[in-house]
Amino acid sequence: MNSGKQFPIKFFKNPNALSKTERDEILKNPGFGQKFTDHMLIIHYNKEKGWHNAEIKAYGPISLDPAVCVFHYAQEIFEGMKAYRAKDGRILLFRPESNARRFINSAKRLAMAPLPEEFYLQAIYKFVKIEQDWIPTQEIGSLYLRPFMIASKSYLGVKPSPEYLFILIASPAGAYFSKNAQSVNVWISENYTRAASGGTGEVKCGGNYAASLIAQQEATKNNCDQLIFLDSVEHKWIEEMGGMNIFFVFKDDTLSTPPLNGTILPGITRDSLITLAQNKGLKVLQEKYSVHQFIEDIQTQKIREVFACGTAAVITPIGKIKTKNGEYIINDDKIGRITQDLRKTLIDIQFGNNIDHHNWVKEVK
Ligand code: PLP
Ligand code: COI
Repeated sequence: MNSGKQFPIKFFKNPNALSKTERDEILKNPGFGQKFTDHMLIIHYNKEKGWHNAEIKAYGPISLDPAVCVFHYAQEIFEGMKAYRAKDGRILLFRPESNARRFINSAKRLAMAPLPEEFYLQAIYKFVKIEQDWIPTQEIGSLYLRPFMIASKSYLGVKPSPEYLFILIASPAGAYFSKNAQSVNVWISENYTRAASGGTGEVKCGGNYAASLIAQQEATKNNCDQLIFLDSVEHKWIEEMGGMNIFFVFKDDTLSTPPLNGTILPGITRDSLITLAQNKGLKVLQEKYSVHQFIEDIQTQKIREVFACGTAAVITPIGKIKTKNGEYIINDDKIGRITQDLRKTLIDIQFGNNIDHHNWVKEVK
């Protein structure tokens, strides 16, 4: 990291940290987002002092006044990133500056105080170094990092809070979907939309996910693992999924993904895959694609593969699409050649097995 300005972060070791045996037991099969490491990092913000009092201390409950703004008006943002353990033991991060910048955009959209990129990165690097024993091996997964920010001033007026807490927690992670790299079933949500133009769809605020839960419930009721949201004006154009972006692969090997139009989260995985696919000589379109055309293209086998991508999900093939009118199988419900190849290329870069031509991978020393 080439940041000049140092931000002091105090470290108070957790006297009740788990033993190596207890930790190793968790790391054998961590699941996703269920177990947390021994520490958390907190930085305070107020108008007078700016960002101050950064501490890493024992993971545990935080005490908040019932009137703090976040409980009432959902002034909250978060990020999702991972720390990877390379075979030679190095600890790697993937494009952490992109998460830092997206976090700033999210803060601005929610009228919150942006955490400067260098503070964000120093917090991540220092915390990951302290929690490095919690990073699973590549065979198991990675350490999922969850930085988030909440409005922490107590009052009920509807206005931006003058006080915030930035908190970083980490959770050892296996596959997001229980069926790792096997295809998932996806429901097309025709009743609910995720984001409207001028809204918060292109940033990462908790409210977007709260609003998506009922649609996710509908997907689950229809035996689907995930769902696809359509645009909010015509209920016609494919946008993205509950927590990941989507790609289509046509039979001539052209890839296509919905364009970033203000309602879709600009995924860092999405952006990386566009570059990696182009490096392989593949054409990548960023064009609007209607759900009707999509179904027709599955039926006429013009579409060969479809996959979801994101930090948590990495690249997950989509094997079946379900709507209220029927079910449509893609590529015999199996992972396709291009999906498999891009998945391997990306994972090999993230874990330091492949040459990183784009300077995406950063080592935590
Ligand atoms: N779309 C949504 C709604 C998400 O929550 C995520 C996950 O962060 C993504 C897309 C993928 O983004 P990224 O690749 O940066 O993890
Ligand atoms: C991520 O991929 O990091 C996400 O945020 C998706 C989901 C777990 C919310």
